[in-house]
Amino acid sequence: MGENFAATSAGALDVQAVRALFPVLHQQVHGHPLAYLDNGATTQMPLAVIDAMRTFEAHDRANIHRGVHTLSQRATDAFDGARAVLKQFFGAGKAHELVFTSGTTEALNTIANGLWAGGPQHAWLHEGDEIIVSGLEHHANLVPWQHAARHTGARLLILRADDEGRVHEADLQKLLSPRTKVFSITACANATGERPPYEAMLAMASQAGALTVLDAAQATSHAVPRIDQIACDFMVFSGHKMYGPMGTGAIVGKRTALQQLYPLRLGGDMVDWVSYDSAGFAPLPARLEGGTPNVGGAVGLAAAAQFITAQGLAAIDAHVHALRAHAVAGLQAVEGVRVLAPHATQAALVSFVAADVHPHDVGTLLDERGIAVRTGHHCAQPLLDQLVQGPTTRASFAIYNTHDEVDRLIEAVAYAVKALR
Ligand code: ALA
Repeated sequence: MGENFAATSAGALDVQAVRALFPVLHQQVHGHPLAYLDNGATTQMPLAVIDAMRTFEAHDRANIHRGVHTLSQRATDAFDGARAVLKQFFGAGKAHELVFTSGTTEALNTIANGLWAGGPQHAWLHEGDEIIVSGLEHHANLVPWQHAARHTGARLLILRADDEGRVHEADLQKLLSPRTKVFSITACANATGERPPYEAMLAMASQAGALTVLDAAQATSHAVPRIDQIACDFMVFSGHKMYGPMGTGAIVGKRTALQQLYPLRLGGDMVDWVSYDSAGFAPLPARLEGGTPNVGGAVGLAAAAQFITAQGLAAIDAHVHALRAHAVAGLQAVEGVRVLAPHATQAALVSFVAADVHPHDVGTLLDERGIAVRTGHHCAQPLLDQLVQGPTTRASFAIYNTHDEVDRLIEAVAYAVKALR
C-alpha cells in the first residue's frame, strides 16, 4: 500500500534530501528509528532555521530600537527584516501590519482582550453585542472569547459542527445579525483535520459588519492563507508549527483593525511619551509589542518561511495530503478503528479512536516502537466530546515524513488495538 501512495505523492519533493536538513530526525527511540508524527503540535526545525538563529545570537544579539551602537542597529535591522519577510509570506500589503507574539495563544488573547481592555470609550465589544466562534476551535480560540464575553456582557454564540465535524454556511447565516461584532474560525481544526469553508464564512461575517479572525496555526506549514485574498481582519499563527522556533508567532492584520486593539503589554518600547499621570502609545506595530521582543525567534521564524517557500508550498501540501490519505486508508482497515472527519482530504493530520482502547495506551505502545503521536483532547474538548465523547490518537504529518513511517504507524496501531483489547 505504501508504494502506491508514494507513487502518487513523489511530486517535486526529494524527501530523503529534506530529511538530511533536520538533525533531530536522525535518532533511535527505544531501539527504533524515530518516526516523528506529532507535527500538529510542533514541527522540527531545519538547519537553515537553526543556523539563522545561531548567527544572530553569535554576532548581532542586542536590544532593538534603544541603542545607537552597531549591534543594536544590526539587531533592529534583523527584527525589521524578519517582519518584512513574514509580511510578504502572508500576502500582507500596505493596509496590513504584522505584530509579533509568542504564538497563536498570545495572538488570540491580544485580540480578544484588546477589544475591550481600554474601557467602554475605546472598546469594540459592549453589552448585548455578539461574538461567534466556530465549534471546531482549539481552546485558545474559545476561552479568550468566553473571557471577553464575561467582561463586556457580550453573548458568545457557537457555530456548531454536525456529527461528522463539518460546519455549514447556512448555520452561520442564521447566527449572523446586526449585533455580530466578531467572528472567529480556524483554517484547519487541530483535533480532526476539518478544513471549514473559511473564505466564504469570513466574507459573510465581514459583510455583516463583524471583525473577522482566522486561526491559521495548523495551515501555515503547508497551505498558507494569503490575507490579501480573504475577508480577514486578523490572522494568527505559531512559528513552532511551521518549522520555526517555539515561543514565536504573530498577528497579521488590517492596520485599521489592529488599531482597534487596546495594548495589553504596557511598558517599554510601546509608548511615544510618558508622564507620571499618563502615556501616549506608539504607532503600530510597536504599540502592541511592549517589552524586549524575541528577536532571535523572529529571525528564525522568517528563515522558516523562506524554507517553506524554497521547498514549494504546493509540493509540501501534496505530500502531506498523500501521507494523510495513506494513513486514513490503512487505519480504516484496522478492525475497530474509527477515523474522525475522513472526508477532510486537505488536512495534514489524522485523528482516530479504537473501540475499548484508551488513546493514551495506544500512544504509549507506539512510542515503544519509536513512533511519536499525540493523544488526548488536543485542547479541543467540546468538539471531541460532541464527536467521540472523549480523547483520540492523532498522527500529524510534515514535509520530512515518509510513507514507510505511515506503514509503521498503521502496523503499530493494528498491533496496539489487538494487544490492548
Ligand atoms: N495546539 C497544539 C496541538 O494541536 C498543541 O497539538
